[in-house]
Amino acid sequence: MAPRGGFSNRLGFIAAAAGSAVGLGNIWGFPFEVGQGGGGIFVLIYLFFCFTLCLPVMLTEVAIGRRTNKNAVGAFTALGYKRWNFIGKLGVLSGVLILSFYNLIAGWSFGYIFEMATANFNISEGFNSFTSDLLKVGSYALIFMLMTSLVVSKGISGGIEKIAKILMPTLILMILGVVIYSLTLPHSMEGLKFYLLPDLSEIKFSTIYNAMGQAFFSLSLGMGALITYGSYVGKNENLVSSVTFITLADVGIAVLAGLMIFPLVGFLTEGSMSGVNSGPELIFVTLPKIFGTIGGVTGAIVGTFFFILLCFAALTSTVSLMEVPVSYTVDEWGISRKKAVVISAIVVFLVGIPSMLGHGFSCFFTEFAQFGDSEKPLNFLGVIMGIANDTFLPLGGFLIMIFASHIWKKENLDQEIMMGAPKYESSLLRKYMHLSTSYIIPIVLFSIFVTTVINTFF
Ligand code: TRP
Repeated sequence: MAPRGGFSNRLGFIAAAAGSAVGLGNIWGFPFEVGQGGGGIFVLIYLFFCFTLCLPVMLTEVAIGRRTNKNAVGAFTALGYKRWNFIGKLGVLSGVLILSFYNLIAGWSFGYIFEMATANFNISEGFNSFTSDLLKVGSYALIFMLMTSLVVSKGISGGIEKIAKILMPTLILMILGVVIYSLTLPHSMEGLKFYLLPDLSEIKFSTIYNAMGQAFFSLSLGMGALITYGSYVGKNENLVSSVTFITLADVGIAVLAGLMIFPLVGFLTEGSMSGVNSGPELIFVTLPKIFGTIGGVTGAIVGTFFFILLCFAALTSTVSLMEVPVSYTVDEWGISRKKAVVISAIVVFLVGIPSMLGHGFSCFFTEFAQFGDSEKPLNFLGVIMGIANDTFLPLGGFLIMIFASHIWKKENLDQEIMMGAPKYESSLLRKYMHLSTSYIIPIVLFSIFVTTVINTFF
């Protein structure tokens, strides 16, 4: 069973999978979710979920992919359980939904490259007029979609690997630089306290399921993206070390992004931290202000460079999101890769239009709905994001775990993971997987899924 397409080497898979995981979810999503989730307590729950629930799910997804050499839908059929391939179809749907809003935010980031290059730091005040400028934002989103389509249509090893390997480390260095700068500013400690000291009184139902949704989203889990990537991995590769590395890298970068943003919020609000729960605009308002305090040409260069790197991080993620519907349609419908890319891009772009309109342009989509314990109405993007991240992904994760441990059987999963990972046999992780994959993890995921649905809709 030669892996189809195939990553050129071990680093190729790790770079691409880490590239998929690290993206807007870490740098844009994580800080604002922390802000809305009450600070340190959210971080704590998030970290707990990443390592106890998400890492085993990731290992399972990659193992299913490598065993079958198939896309997210075909993998279930290939194992002999065609009836279960609805899990993969749910994944394709989640992929389309997520990409529809993700591409919009990626488009904002792309537009910010030019705002920063022209030293327009006042964009933070004009953020709302930026996002409601349909022509501008629509064009940026369109350009981003074209870039994603180009990379995906070129195929796996050619497109993704090369970009990811160079730019991820650069991004980390850049964030580290801003972290250090932000910690020198007055009132940064208040921000740090908000971020790192858990306040138990802030716990709500939504804190728990948002942390879960964020963990799944950030690690690219629950929709078969990693089944698809796993299908390109060779049998002699060590899945356990790869997955551990990817999780650590992804969580590490999210934590760093928080270390960058919250001291800045402390500085900008003179320690009051008001507005920290503002939502998706957080980094787009905070960062330009800070680049503005650096000022002049240096600020413009730093700002431009930052958003360029953010766009690349986003691109390796949009590529993995698009890869799910594309590899599904290529393998299962037998159409060419180019055609699959064109169809996916058009569908995703159309589904994304209401999210685009929902930032000031159309009142209807801007104040689309009010749910659960949230105080203000959510825009269309917020609603889709909630549905995709907090319900579809944990549901997908739940179904994948049930499938792997009860239908495909735990022993087969175990065997696949062991291949290429000699140390796994006697490891603590293996004991934990045995203990948790059949009941504990599925039950926790299912309870969170049910709670989310009840709390949101009733
Ligand atoms: N993990 C990416 C981020 O944090 C987003 C992403 C890429 C994703 N592929 C995914 C989320 C698959 C869920 C499923 O930006």
